[in-house]
Amino acid sequence: MNDFHINSTKKYNNSYKKSVESPEAFWGELASKNFIWKEKWSKVVDFDFNKAKISWFKNAKLNITVNCLDRHAESDPNKTAIIFEPNNPDEKNKSYTYSELLKEVCKMANVLKKLGVKKGDRVCIYLPMIPELAFSVLACARIGAIHSVVFAGFSSNALATRIDDCESTLIITSDGSFRGDKTLNLKKIVDDALKICKTDQRVLLVKRTNESVNLVEKRDFLLDNLIINIEDTCEAEIMDAEDPLFILYTSGSTGKPKGMVHSCGGYMVYTSYTFKNIFQYEENDIYWCTADIGWITGHSYILYGPLSNGATTIMFEGVPSYPDFSRFWQIVDKYKVNQFYTAPTAIRALAKQGVRFLENNNLSSLKVLGTVGEPINEEAWQWYNIHVGKDKCPIVDTWWQTETGGILISSSPKVVPDKPTWATKPFIGVQPILIDENGNELDKANVVGKLCIKYPWPSIARTIWGNHQRYVDTYFSAFENMYFTGDGAFKDEDGNFRITGRVDDVIIVSGHNLGTAPIEDAINEHDNIAESAIVGFPHEIKGNALYGFVTLKSKSENITKIKNEINSLISKKIGPIAKLDKIQITTGLPKTRSGKIMRRILRKIASNQTENLGDISTLLNPDVVQEIINNYQK
Ligand code: WT7
Repeated sequence: MNDFHINSTKKYNNSYKKSVESPEAFWGELASKNFIWKEKWSKVVDFDFNKAKISWFKNAKLNITVNCLDRHAESDPNKTAIIFEPNNPDEKNKSYTYSELLKEVCKMANVLKKLGVKKGDRVCIYLPMIPELAFSVLACARIGAIHSVVFAGFSSNALATRIDDCESTLIITSDGSFRGDKTLNLKKIVDDALKICKTDQRVLLVKRTNESVNLVEKRDFLLDNLIINIEDTCEAEIMDAEDPLFILYTSGSTGKPKGMVHSCGGYMVYTSYTFKNIFQYEENDIYWCTADIGWITGHSYILYGPLSNGATTIMFEGVPSYPDFSRFWQIVDKYKVNQFYTAPTAIRALAKQGVRFLENNNLSSLKVLGTVGEPINEEAWQWYNIHVGKDKCPIVDTWWQTETGGILISSSPKVVPDKPTWATKPFIGVQPILIDENGNELDKANVVGKLCIKYPWPSIARTIWGNHQRYVDTYFSAFENMYFTGDGAFKDEDGNFRITGRVDDVIIVSGHNLGTAPIEDAINEHDNIAESAIVGFPHEIKGNALYGFVTLKSKSENITKIKNEINSLISKKIGPIAKLDKIQITTGLPKTRSGKIMRRILRKIASNQTENLGDISTLLNPDVVQEIINNYQK
C-alpha cells in the first residue's frame, strides 16, 4: 500500500523506506494512481549526476493543467479554486470555481494562440498578483508554451536581461500594480526594458489600475480587445513528461541570473504530493500562501501544488502593512484560513508591531502554519506559535530552493513533529547528506556540514536555460555524484536537519535570494567606483541586510551623493530589494595574494565581530583591515 495521503508517522516511515529502497517502484505507483497521463512512461527515473542528466517518467505524455483543472472541473465544478483578495480591502474580492477557472485559462490560452504563441515558445509574464497572472501561467502550460514569470518588483534592466536570456516572444504585463498605498506603472517599466532588449517582443496588456499607458501599434495588444468572443475551451497540448514547463530565474554567484528549467511530469507529481502532506490539506480547507507567484513558492504552492489537489488557494495582491498591520489576520478571519504559509521576515516585521493587531481577528480556523525562505529564529518561531497559532498549530519550517521545485526538508503535522528553528526531516524520496571540508560524508550526529542530496527527486531542475555546463558546474561539481545545495546544515541524532545558512556568495535578504556578484556589477558601473564587495550582516527584520564596501577611483567630497547614486544604480539594475543598508567608502579591500577579496573578513566587520578575525598577515594589504574597522558603519 502506498497512499497519497500520509497522515501518520508510521505511513511516513514506510513510504520513506520504500522511496529510498525502491524509488522506481515507489514513484511509479504513486504517479500512476494519482494523476492523469495520456501515456505512461518507459522508465521512472534515469540519471547521471556527474553530467547533470536527469529524467523522470521518460516518454510519458500529459498536460499538467488537465490534472490541475479539468479533472476537478469535472468532479467538483463548483468548488472554489482561487480566491482573489485585492490590495484594497474596500474593493470587492473575486473567486473562481474550478469550472470557471478552467474557462478563464482556456480563454487566455486562445488569446496566446491568436498572438502566435506555440508549443515551446517562451512567454515572459510580468504581472502583479491578480487573477490574470494565474490565468496566464496556466494558459502557457495549457498550450505547451514555457512561462518565465518575472517578479513585478524587478527593474527594467533586470526584466530585459531575463527576456533576452530566454528569448521570449511575448510579454504579458499590466498597466500598473497596486501595492499598499502606492501604484507602480509596470507598462512603463516594460517599455523601458524593450528599449534595451535584443529580441523582438509582443506585449499583451492587462488592465488593472486603469492609468493611461503608451501603446505601440503592432507591438502592444489589449487583452480586453482580444478576449471578446473568444472560445472558452482549448484542448490541452500533449506534453512529454520531460518537456520544459517553465523557466524561473534565480540569482547566482556570478553576474547573470540562472534560468532554472522545470519539466512537466516530475514537477507535477512532487509539488502535488508535498502540498497534500506537508500542509495536511483536507477536502474543504482554505489554504493561503502569502508569497508572490513571481517566486518559486508561488509557482509550486499557490498554483500547481494546491490546484493539482483540487484545493482552494488564496491569491493576495497586497502587503501585510496595508491599510495597517492587521491585514494578514483580517484575511485569515475573513476566509477562515486553515493553512497559512509565509516568510520569517514577514513574521518578524509583524511581531515588531505588537500583538494588538491580532486582537480583533478570530484566528481559530488555523490548523497549520508554515514558513519558508530563510532560517527562522527562535523568537520569531515562538511569536508565530503563541500569537498566531495559539500554541495549537504545528509549524512547518519548509526548506527548499528554486532549483528543487518543491519542499525537500520539513516537518508535517501528525507525521513529523516540529522543532523550533529546525526544518527537521527529509520528505519522502529525499536523501540529504552532510559533507565535510574534504568532500567526505559526515555520518555522525551533531555535526555541521555542507548540505547535499544524493539521489534525484522528481521536481529537481533539469538544466539552466541555455547553459547546461553552468548547471553542472554550480550544482554537481563540488562533490561527485550529488547535488550541492549551497547551504550548510546541522544534523542531530534523530536525523533532524537545521539549516545554518548559505555557504556561498548568495545572501538571503527578507527571504529573497540575492547574489553578491550582480549587485557588485551594478555598483561598479558608477564612474567613480573602482571596486566593491557586498556582504550580509544580521538584521532584526530582514534576517540579513546588505553592507557594501566600496573603493573610489578618485577622492570625492560628496560621499552622501555617491551613496545615493550607488543605491539608485542598484534599484535601476536589479530592483529596490537589493538596496544596501550600509555603505562604507574605503581606500582598499582586503585581498589574498592572488587578488581574491577576503569576504570572510568583511563579513565579520560588517557583523561587528572583530575580536577574532583570524590570521590576516598573509593578506596582500593587511593595513587596510584596521582602517575598515575604524570606519565601521553602525
Ligand atoms: C535558499 C533558496 C524555497 C522558496 C523560497 C526561497 C534558503 C529557504 C529555508 C528554510 C532555512 C531556507 C536557503 C536556500 N531557505 N527555505 N526553511 N530554512 N533556509 O527560494 O530564492 O531559491 O532560495 O533559501 O538558503 O538555499 P530561493
